[in-house]
Amino acid sequence: MFARLRSDIQCILDRDPAARSTWEVLTCYPGLHALVLHRRAHWCWNHGFKWLGRFISHLSRGFTGIEIHPGAKIGERVFFDHAMGVVVGETAEIGDGCTIYQGVTLGGTSLYKGTKRHPTLGRDVVVSAGAKVLGGFVVGDGAKIGSNAVVIKPVPAGATAVGIPARIIPSKNGASADVTASERKFSAYGITLEDDPLSQAMKGLIDHASSQEHQIALLWQAIEKLSASARAGAGADCVPQDAALSETFEAERLAQLVGK
Ligand SMILES: CC(C)(COP(=O)(O)OP(=O)(O)OC[C@H]1O[C@@H](n2cnc3c(N)ncnc32)[C@H](O)[C@@H]1OP(=O)(O)O)[C@@H](O)C(=O)NCCC(=O)NCCS
Repeated sequence: MFARLRSDIQCILDRDPAARSTWEVLTCYPGLHALVLHRRAHWCWNHGFKWLGRFISHLSRGFTGIEIHPGAKIGERVFFDHAMGVVVGETAEIGDGCTIYQGVTLGGTSLYKGTKRHPTLGRDVVVSAGAKVLGGFVVGDGAKIGSNAVVIKPVPAGATAVGIPARIIPSKNGASADVTASERKFSAYGITLEDDPLSQAMKGLIDHASSQEHQIALLWQAIEKLSASARAGAGADCVPQDAALSETFEAERLAQLVGK
């Protein structure tokens, strides 16, 4: 039991840049409290204490703001970040390592008892703030659901789904069904450090400056040739006196500084 709690706490420390200590996570993270209470409720539900399971879930809802049906199956290292307003339905399944933000509903669209009405999330899925995933289909390993998306169809592993109704957008970093969950890095808020826009802009500028330096070197070579032939013909030297012919641009060093 304590090993599991330690792993729950560690996964929050790993994934939330705002989390500072074990004590803070233990005392101030409703997502953790909801998980611990859900395990009790789920045990009761599976052992025939249906009302007690519902009652624990109800108390947990009041205490944490997260409503998880005691029948829902939740894997290891699942993190409900901020967590308020989350609803997880009876037949929902959440795989290991998933991250679920505030306002998310894993809900159903049918009223038939005894059927799989709610979604199954694979491993390491990120469901962003306000998203609704509705129906008994699968969201594949490592998929990302955009904030406020309404997902009503299966999402392939590694894909990103956004919008209403959700559509799959092309992946920037080549994530696909072929990439196993363990090969993927966790990306808080659905982005990775490599996606940092300032860093991307710096890399773009360095590449551009480096290619311009190459072009300028070629131009100087051409100018010097022209100048040499002009001198030979007793014409005027066309290279300006103050031309900085030896100036170099340290593209590699700058690229290292921005983490390229
Ligand atoms: C879904 C998400 C992970 C996609 O990130 P990404 O792969 O970096 O995608 P981009 O930002 O490059 O956007 C790609 C396209 O999807 C669109 N898009 C991105 N997120 C969207 C969203 N939530 N709803 C609608 N469209 C969205 C972009 O406008 C862009 O469209 P375009 O190609 O027509 O310009 C990200 O947008 C997101 O929602 N992150 C979750 C943030 C969150 O919940 N934070 C909570 C913190 S408390």
